[in-house]
Amino acid sequence: MADKTRHAFVCGHPVGHSRSPLIHGHWLAQHGIDGTYAAYDVAADDFPGFVGRIRRGEFAGGNVTIPHKEAAFAVVDQVDKAARRIGAVNTIWRDGNTLHGTNTDWSGFAASLDQSASDWAQARRTVVLGAGGASRGVVYALIERGISSLTIVNRTRSRAEALAADFADIGSTDISVTDWRSIDTALARADLLINTTSLGMDGGDVDVPDLSGLASSAIVTDIVYVPLETPLLKAAGARGLTTVDGLGMLLHQAVPGFEKWFGVRPEVTADLRRLVLADMGHEP
Ligand code: ATR
Repeated sequence: MADKTRHAFVCGHPVGHSRSPLIHGHWLAQHGIDGTYAAYDVAADDFPGFVGRIRRGEFAGGNVTIPHKEAAFAVVDQVDKAARRIGAVNTIWRDGNTLHGTNTDWSGFAASLDQSASDWAQARRTVVLGAGGASRGVVYALIERGISSLTIVNRTRSRAEALAADFADIGSTDISVTDWRSIDTALARADLLINTTSLGMDGGDVDVPDLSGLASSAIVTDIVYVPLETPLLKAAGARGLTTVDGLGMLLHQAVPGFEKWFGVRPEVTADLRRLVLADMGHEP
């Protein structure tokens, strides 16, 4: 008899730190679904072989994470507008013989802010720190949600310029680039600040930018969620600014994939957040 159980995966290298199995496992149990979601550590050379397993029907679909997001974009048969613009796929699903790819990092980012700082898209001056892969999803979200003015600040200015040029022809967002050493100029009167760099990841010592120029109404968010309170969020909190941590983005980016593979749109609840926080070693 055919296996009726639907299987999904997260595929990355390394992947051991991924909280995705915990998140999807919680939703599978909550909805009583006959399904599995497991992590697969797949090196870059082995990624094509793994894609073969998806094509042969072993999985309904899954998530791809670092370092496979660009390779996934290249290998699927159909990508949507967001994935094409961002140039990376983090969610795959199979429909018959067709592999579809999308990118839910951008919508997860937007949904997290919607939940925690609902008027965020009204910001007049937005600053994005970083111009790597993660920044592309954030910039796409900002444009999709009609942010009026955006400044990208990156240590390597040329990468910020390339990113700004890539996104110049969509939406009505005014995009500019500022040198990392002129960060204070960019931050002056800004009311939305987003860190997409690896600065402060894993709690290393970092020079947090001076936040004194930010508007008193500013929202500060970091897409890094380990540690949950990054040095940037700590500094923003000390100034009394609204802060949004990166965990919400992780939880919300998982929603569309689960719906595709298992047919139920799951919710990001306080219980789910507590579950993941407990796994990260946070006291309730
Ligand atoms: P990701 O996919 O997570 O965005 P990435 O493409 O390697 O990863 O990009 C990392 C980002 O963090 C880049 O914007 C990088 O700046 P550069 O383009 O100049 O490399 C930024 N970054 C990493 N370490 C940094 C540091 N110590 N100071 C400032 N920016 C840093």
